[in-house]
Amino acid sequence: MTQRTLVLLKPDAVRRGLTGEIIGRIERKAGWQITALELRTLDRGTLEQHYAEHVGKPFYEPLVEFMASGPVVVLIVEGERVIEGVRALAGPTDPIAAAPGSIRGDFGVIVRENLIHASDSEESAEREVKIFFPGRV
Ligand code: PPS
Repeated sequence: MTQRTLVLLKPDAVRRGLTGEIIGRIERKAGWQITALELRTLDRGTLEQHYAEHVGKPFYEPLVEFMASGPVVVLIVEGERVIEGVRALAGPTDPIAAAPGSIRGDFGVIVRENLIHASDSEESAEREVKIFFPGRV
């Protein structure tokens, strides 16, 4: 099942110099391909679109603020079961609950600074690819 997913390496990952490590883990999965990769500082409008489903939740404002606090790396990754696969590499939202060996389990401590976002379904992936790469088919 070939899929694509939208991945963000969050400002904490960029600030801490962990993007190479994280991208390396994605690259080493057999058969997955990075088909877009860009360093970008996200504006509030883009973040409001991206996190629209979370408006009103207590973490929404701090999350948007944090995501605008520095550059992120935006990627599209394509391949077999890549949506579930990148989320498995990332580990659960709370890094303390994430197993060692996962990205969040190895490098994260606090929930807000959990290093990576990855689309959670095919519908989300298509919506998010359109937000970050509007010209892309
Ligand atoms: S929910 O309500 O279950 O849908 O939320 P969840 O999928 O766990 O998280 C949605 C995104 O919000 C981020 N998040 C937080 N950010 C800052 N502070 C707190 N406390 C917090 N809790 C959740 C979480 O990392 C998700 O962001 P993305 O970028 O999608 O990973």
